[in-house]
Amino acid sequence: MHDETFHDASALIAAIMRELVDFPDDTPGVMDVLVRIAEQDLSEDNFNAPEPCRKPACRLLPQTVASGLVVSPRVCGAIAALEDRMHWFQAGHYSDEVMRQPGYMDSYAAMEIIGPRGFFTGDDFGLGLMILGPGLHYPDHYHAAPELYWLLTGPIEYRRAPGGFHIAGTADTIWNEPNQVHAMKTGEVPMLCIWAWTRDVDQVPVLVGAA
Ligand SMILES: [Fe+2]
Repeated sequence: MHDETFHDASALIAAIMRELVDFPDDTPGVMDVLVRIAEQDLSEDNFNAPEPCRKPACRLLPQTVASGLVVSPRVCGAIAALEDRMHWFQAGHYSDEVMRQPGYMDSYAAMEIIGPRGFFTGDDFGLGLMILGPGLHYPDHYHAAPELYWLLTGPIEYRRAPGGFHIAGTADTIWNEPNQVHAMKTGEVPMLCIWAWTRDVDQVPVLVGAA
């Protein structure tokens, strides 16, 4: 079973890399992420199968993975193959109260492919998936980690403070510089994205204005 999971997790990482290399060289953050993936120890010696864990938002996976096939059959096929062995979690300091929305936690979840809770520990690097259900607002926050999002579904709206919200379409990337305040909103469609933090992964996001 471990062999199969090692193979499936490796295949998902390879699929993500093969898609990212096709982005134009000047796409902000993409090359940073590819370089950091290449620096990770992704050998079988460094592989750990996490305890599978689902969150309520995982109910949105079949729909979002199916939608994402248009963006990348390779990546979404690899997600589907590994889905039953993923360890999904929520940031421990997030709640409906601090996000100021009832139902937020019911429709939000993240997982790590590479990271302390993922299939490979990672060397100050994180790569994973995030789900955000429809009609939600991930409010202004910042973190030390430079962050890439790659949208497998969309569109969404996002902003970097002090700017206003802009549309980000399906298959688009978003790059947030260290400590840049940013936010996102979903519309009618649930969001599934690939995320990566290229360093400083031990510093949790700070919500602006949270009590
Ligand atoms: Fe962020």
